[in-house]
Order: sequence, then C-alpha cells, then structure tokens
Amino acid sequence: MQTVLVAGAAGYLGRHIVVELKRRGYRVRAFVRDGRKLKQSGPFLEPAVDGLVDEVFEGDATRPETLRGLCRGVDLVVSAMGLTHPDARMTPESVDHQGNRRILEQALEAGVGKFVYVSVFHAGEMMEVETVRAHEAFVRDLESSGMEYAVVRPNGYFSDMAMFLKAARVGFMVWIGDGRSRINPIHGADLAGVTVDALEGTEREVEAGGPETFTYRELLELAFEALGKKPRILFIPLRVAEAVLSVIGRFSPKLAALGSFAVAVAGMDNCAPPHGSRRLGAFYRELSAREKRNHTTSHQEI
Ligand SMILES: NC(=O)c1ccc[n+]([C@@H]2O[C@H](COP(=O)([O-])OP(=O)(O)OC[C@H]3O[C@@H](n4cnc5c(N)ncnc54)[C@H](OP(=O)(O)O)[C@@H]3O)[C@@H](O)[C@H]2O)c1
Repeated sequence: MQTVLVAGAAGYLGRHIVVELKRRGYRVRAFVRDGRKLKQSGPFLEPAVDGLVDEVFEGDATRPETLRGLCRGVDLVVSAMGLTHPDARMTPESVDHQGNRRILEQALEAGVGKFVYVSVFHAGEMMEVETVRAHEAFVRDLESSGMEYAVVRPNGYFSDMAMFLKAARVGFMVWIGDGRSRINPIHGADLAGVTVDALEGTEREVEAGGPETFTYRELLELAFEALGKKPRILFIPLRVAEAVLSVIGRFSPKLAALGSFAVAVAGMDNCAPPHGSRRLGAFYRELSAREKRNHTTSHQEI
C-alpha cells in the first residue's frame, strides 16, 4: 500500500483529498500545523478527517527545522498547502513558493516518486497578483527539479463562493465589474477526484472547473435565492475599483494585493474544463441549513 503525504490536509481542498485517497486505498500522512484541526469539520462542509489519516506530521513549512523527516517512508506527495488568508507573519512568497519548495526538497531527499501541486487556473493572465506569482515560482521549481510531477489548475472553489452567501445574508452585495464574466466553480470533493487522478495519471498539467457555468450576476442571485431573499447588488465599474485599489495600496499593500486578485478575477471569464457533478445551489442550501441549525443550537444553549 502506498503512502501519500498531503500538505495542507486541514484545509478545504486538503480534507477532501484525504477522503479521496482513503477511498482509493492509500495510506495518508497529513502535514498540518495543528493536528487538532483534523478532529473538527471545516467551515465549508468539509469533513473532519482525523479518523481517516494514518499519521499526522505537525510542522510549519516556513520553519525548516520542523520539516525534518517529513517525507521519510512516503511514496507520493500532494500539496494543497497555500496562504489563503492575510497573515501578519507570512507572505505568498514565504508559504506558496518557499514553503512548498522546502516540502519538495524533503520529497527529493526521501526519493518520493511523484509530486502533485495545486496551483491556479489561467495563472499566466494573473501574474500581477502576488499569490499567483508565488504559486508559479514554485511550479517552475517543480518542473526543473527532476521529480515526476503534475500541476492541477483549478479556477474557483465552492468554499470561495460561500462569500456570496455571507453577503446575501447581510442582504446587500457590492461587486466589481458588470457581473457578466463567467466562472464554473468546483466542489472540493470533485477537485479531490481530479487531483488524485493526476497523481495516478500521466498528464502534467490538469485544468479543472466544475460542471455548471454561471455569470457572477447569476452566482450572486443564486446565493440570495438559497436564502429566499430578493437580490440587492451594487456593481462597481472596474476602472473605479482599480483607482480605489491604487489609493489603498499606499496605506495597506496586503489589502491591495487581495483586492487586485478580486479585480483580476472579476474582469475576465474564468471557465476551466468541467469536472465532477456537485452543484452549487445544493451546496449553498446545505451550508445555510447548517448555519441555521448552529444558530438555533447556540440560542438554545444560552
Ligand atoms: N480557493 C480557491 O478558489 C482556489 C482556486 C485556485 C487555487 N487555489 C489554491 O489551492 C490551495 C488550497 O486552497 P484551499 O482553499 O483548500 O486553502 P485552505 O483551506 O486555506 O488550506 C490551505 C492549507 O495550507 C495550510 N498552510 C498554510 N500555511 C502553512 C504553513 N506555513 N505550513 C503548513 N501548512 C500551511 C493551512 O494550514 P492551517 O489549516 O493550519 O491554516 C491550510 O490547511 C491553495 O494553494 C490555493 O491558493 C485556491
């Protein structure tokens, strides 16, 4: 039985990858910063996976001294590790590029057979975004490392689409652009299937989106519909958003970097080859039902 190291195993995609690997009969070593996270389910309906992982390796990819022995006894590596939230101590360069590079070094040292990395769809068109540049810097390291590899390129996850539900709950949403750009987001479980297929297959680049394509306007409306609310959306022209970002950039480069990703995404179609079967409307309904249940329980406890 082959052992797979999953980096980012406590994250949205990472947890689904763990589930998929176990379904296909692999042993799983989870690389996480805090093993306790695996015991709880995640915020976007991703499952608790503590009962599925065979070994937990705790460490921090930005601290090399915590990575010794990470890949010892490991046959294959999948990394869905990345910096997805602003962090005062870390940068895309320190996590997405250098952090993954350290994992790759451990994998090379241990004689790992293949490394699958989750980067970003249409990266070449978003190189002004710091996170995308860092992802691609690692892809170049991987390509030149001599390691057998595959790069998975997803467009947008259902977990990211949850922000529309959050905004719909507030009752009002501001969106950059005219809402006519299109995207086919993918559920973590469907993408996990694609990722493990990449681990087992021979393709080096795998682009992946979900089965349904929406305009952003339709996405926003779907979120309001899931809550039974009437859509109230303000569309801000792209040029205005860019001007605001350049002002923000003078005070908060980190916030501006995040904003530049939103502007880049809002301004173009982001449709990747379709995979999987899970539907966004069902995800929205399930997520909002869970939140309602949690809300009721916490009120009953008071
Ligand atoms: N979300 C999207 O729509 C999208 C689209 C295309 C590509 N991607 C890429 O796909 C990857 C996975 O995304 P996701 O949404 O699953 O992200 P996520 O839920 O934030 O998971 C990322 C994981 O990386 C771990 N991590 C971060 N810094 C680390 C460090 N220094 N050392 C060890 N582990 C660290 C996090 O650990 P903790 O659990 O301890 O925080 C987390 O579990 C990311 O690289 C992301 O950029 C995302």
